[in-house]
Amino acid sequence: MAINQRLLKSITCREADTDVSQERKFIMDSEQKHEIYDLLVRQAESLTEDERLPIPNLANTAALLGESLEEINWAGYYLMVEGALVLGPFWGRPACIRIPVGKGVCGTAVAADAVQCVQDVHAFPGHIACDSRSRSEIVIPLHHEGKVVGVLDIDSPIPARFDEIDVAGLTRFAQVLERNCDWKRRS
Ligand code: SME
Repeated sequence: MAINQRLLKSITCREADTDVSQERKFIMDSEQKHEIYDLLVRQAESLTEDERLPIPNLANTAALLGESLEEINWAGYYLMVEGALVLGPFWGRPACIRIPVGKGVCGTAVAADAVQCVQDVHAFPGHIACDSRSRSEIVIPLHHEGKVVGVLDIDSPIPARFDEIDVAGLTRFAQVLERNCDWKRRS
């Protein structure tokens, strides 16, 4: 399915801090953001519906997010392998390979089994800086049979890039991966 570039390229972040706001305009309204996530969820469904192996599905959906969302510098997955998070398919610069549960934003999302929406990564205790450009971050746990099997992680160079609409939209996006992958075949 072709990506609706016009719609996708209209995604932007909300105002983050004074310096940024002087250079940027508010463009995004809530309705538009919901529409963009509706489209991304449909695209994720379409990309993964004929494949059960996690790696190709995660690779394509990481690329989809990276090519679709504005103002991000990294989008990808870490997968639980032998008790730790291990780097999976991603879009962006090379990243740290292993993250212990409980460490960093990703490890905290696993330990708490809860979405982490971090407005300022520099203020997050133990944040792991894989890319020095990152200023805000969102991490969504992925589940199979009641257990966390990995996380979806997205970084932005803009402070407070992510809000509750991103949380809801990316949770729906992650649920497509939860359903359409055979998580026993992830390593
Ligand atoms: N910042 C993450 C590490 C992964 S990178 O952002 C790709 C963390 O603190 O867990």
